[in-house]
Amino acid sequence: MSNDAILKIKDKEYSLPMIVGSEGETAVDARKLRNQSGCITYDEGYGNTGSCQSDVTYIDGEQGILRYRGYPIDQLALDSDFVETAFLIIYGDLPTSEERAVFAKSLNENASVHARMLHLFEGYPRDAHPMAILSAMVNSLGCYDPHLATNDHKRDLENFSEAAAIAISKVRTIAAVSYRMSQGLPIIYPKIELPYCDNFLHMMFSDPYREYLATPEVSRALNLLLLLHADHEQNCSTSTVRMVASSGANLFASTAAGICALWGPLHGGANMAVIQMLESIHAEGDDGSRFIEAAKSGTGGKRLMGFGHRVYKNFDPRAKIIGKACEELLDSLGIEDPCLDIARHLESAALKDDYFIERKLYPNVDFYSGIVMRAIGIPLNMFTVMFAIGRMPGWIANWKEVASNPKGKIYRPRQIYTGPVKRDYVSMEKR
Ligand code: CMC
Repeated sequence: MSNDAILKIKDKEYSLPMIVGSEGETAVDARKLRNQSGCITYDEGYGNTGSCQSDVTYIDGEQGILRYRGYPIDQLALDSDFVETAFLIIYGDLPTSEERAVFAKSLNENASVHARMLHLFEGYPRDAHPMAILSAMVNSLGCYDPHLATNDHKRDLENFSEAAAIAISKVRTIAAVSYRMSQGLPIIYPKIELPYCDNFLHMMFSDPYREYLATPEVSRALNLLLLLHADHEQNCSTSTVRMVASSGANLFASTAAGICALWGPLHGGANMAVIQMLESIHAEGDDGSRFIEAAKSGTGGKRLMGFGHRVYKNFDPRAKIIGKACEELLDSLGIEDPCLDIARHLESAALKDDYFIERKLYPNVDFYSGIVMRAIGIPLNMFTVMFAIGRMPGWIANWKEVASNPKGKIYRPRQIYTGPVKRDYVSMEKR
């Protein structure tokens, strides 16, 4: 008996092969359907569409499972750090100690941005959003190392490790420079001897007369935050990276497009929106109850930001980890943040409320990440930038999959046209 799926359109049957993933996930392969039947599949928002086969990340949204290259996120969160996890995601296996040292060294050696590139920052208005600057600068990186950005995947892959190290390392430096510029502060250059996260905090918060030294708690919290964001399979920004890469575009152009996709409030921008929501609830003297009612009725377009997820329908494992880390960090730093109390109240009220239960809406990673970033001292308009720094390894790994696929095709969905049917042009005088 064939394992194919049978689709009947009008009176004709079409046999569609099944694809099974390594965790038993099944898909109906509809690639030949249009040629056979003239029909396309319609799935606005791609909620039920597999756009690729990928070895990087596995998610089971019903069970709340997230694994990078097979390793459960809770194990990595407990014992790994961002640099090791980035290596795992990009190269497919945990590094040996030698590989880890080489990788860390290449990140340190590539931390500075080109002196001429620093002038680009000066052209931006002081209040420019750092996400706009970040995407423009990441795209520009290819201009300073053109041998890494040829838009010929075969050639770009020959120098992949160098390009990957530059992207991961410099995205952090660009982020810190854009913050310093927006504050009118002098640029702080990276220090080669500092670990990845400590170096970022140094570039953000040191000044010429006083060096910022990250405490182990803060360093650990930042590592965890970035690690939890490091990949998340075919979300909006990663799919964008793959889409752009599929045209043959280089790593920097493709990841810059991912940064733009991440910016919106329904994706990476949610971490900013959560804090804005919590602050406005606090300012209005609400404990969250009035806001929940507004989010349920959709009054004023309100949603409970940091809640809900396209894939997770039980819990977001990242939210559990970061919620706990958030409390530990605030405790260890002796910070009392009223937003944490409001967030806790919102969470427990929403989890008991039929509206959220029926729609399977749970806190996502962004619900507590903003409070962690605030405790570290990251300003609000940098929150989504932090997400972008964390997501860079995932974007890079997905770019590599697209670039390395010898049978790869340009991503080019179809549509159902709903505009006017054919009509004849009428010249201006006759209109
Ligand atoms: N507050 C109130 N209602 C909600 C929310 C929310 N946060 N999220 C979804 N709903 C409702 C929605 O109104 C709809 O109700 P109905 O069936 O009555 O029309 C139902 O739940 C399904 O929502 P949807 O918009 O069709 O679901 P989606 O899978 O398209 O959207 C989402 C997923 C994450 C965009 C959405 O849940 C949302 O807007 N959440 C708030 C923004 C947010 O926190 N985004 C960060 C996502 S995690 C980080 C990342 O990976 O980007």
